[in-house]
Amino acid sequence: MALERTLSIVKPDAVEKGVAAQILARIEASGLKIIALKMIQLTPEEAQGFYAVHKERPFYGELVAFMTSGPVVVSALEGDNAIARYRELMGATNPADAADGTIRKEFATDIEKNAVHGSDGPDTSKIEIAYFFNATEIQAPVEAL
Ligand code: CMP
Repeated sequence: MALERTLSIVKPDAVEKGVAAQILARIEASGLKIIALKMIQLTPEEAQGFYAVHKERPFYGELVAFMTSGPVVVSALEGDNAIARYRELMGATNPADAADGTIRKEFATDIEKNAVHGSDGPDTSKIEIAYFFNATEIQAPVEAL
């Protein structure tokens, strides 16, 4: 099992509902370690860049508008198999399909306002973590310094 890192975003819908801390508590309770954390307001340019892979999708404009509609809580998570474990904890993209006990089942509104984002693979997680955090903002284990 590989030690991995993944990027988490608690999206504006969840921050607005006042459940950001509950989501972070679930992440910690699952055994994933928060190694970087901040609350920020994305600019349209930042949201466009983050979701550039979806540029051609019909929902891109609305997604950017949603992601800039209020503050988000971004974090980097670390643990064995962290990418798949966080995706399982989040549940399916569409909360209508999300399993009981997942973050999206409990807190998401719809397929766009789906409470959280998590990286989908090791290449994207590196890019996504670096998009929001510089090296000094990430709490690396002592042995990695
Ligand atoms: P996320 O995991 O952050 O990755 C891309 C985001 O686009 C996704 O979560 C949803 O917020 C949004 N999204 C995906 N599919 C749709 C869709 N069909 N309609 C609207 N938004 C979508």
